[in-house]
Amino acid sequence: MVERTELRTERLLLRPFAFADVDDVVRYASDEQWSRYWVAAPAGPYTRRDGEEFIARAILDSWETRPQFAIVLGGTVIGGTGLNIDRESRIGELGYAVARSHWGEGIAPEAARAVIDWAFLAYGLEKVFARADARNVQSHRVMEKLGMRREALLRQHRMHGGERTDEVWYGLLRREWKERAP
Ligand SMILES: CC(C)(COP(=O)(O)OP(=O)(O)OC[C@H]1O[C@@H](n2cnc3c(N)ncnc32)[C@H](O)[C@@H]1OP(=O)(O)O)[C@@H](O)C(=O)NCCC(=O)NCCS
Repeated sequence: MVERTELRTERLLLRPFAFADVDDVVRYASDEQWSRYWVAAPAGPYTRRDGEEFIARAILDSWETRPQFAIVLGGTVIGGTGLNIDRESRIGELGYAVARSHWGEGIAPEAARAVIDWAFLAYGLEKVFARADARNVQSHRVMEKLGMRREALLRQHRMHGGERTDEVWYGLLRREWKERAP
């Protein structure tokens, strides 16, 4: 059984989402630049209801398979990071997002690294992978900084705003993680 938990990094508190986080989440998620490469983005503007649904899901989802952390800086939620865990194959899919006002400060790599370090141990993972729109070079940089290797380019694999785009996959094996783990 994996318990909901908090993690701390040099600058950040990573903790489970709470209903009180709705305002912070809506503030950054309603930025169109932020959701530019998000395949499941709502058709219209991101509303308070979208924020409430996101938080409700994060709270209700079981941490056995879907641990989701709010990224907190100075008391404000500035993003989220989490995993989808396949317990049978012991593989986790990593996701992350940070408010545009904090892009370029190394927040996503710092938060995701802590989550990966925790998850390899908590779930006995053999691999963590992540995927991104091939045009989302900001996200590619995060995966590279996490020590992940680019494994695949899936051509025309995504539908995004009525447009078909390529998708890249990055992966980190347990032994690669161990080589640089604390
Ligand atoms: C992708 C994302 C999580 C990166 O987070 P971050 O905390 O800014 O990560 P970093 O600070 O390490 O920056 C990553 C790269 O973004 C680029 N970048 C930084 N600031 C930027 C800005 N204001 N505008 C455009 N690109 C910027 C830089 O090239 C940087 O790489 P570098 O450090 O090698 O120069 C963030 O851009 C984001 O939340 N985007 C929207 C959601 C998203 O796309 N999530 C990933 C889905 S796969």
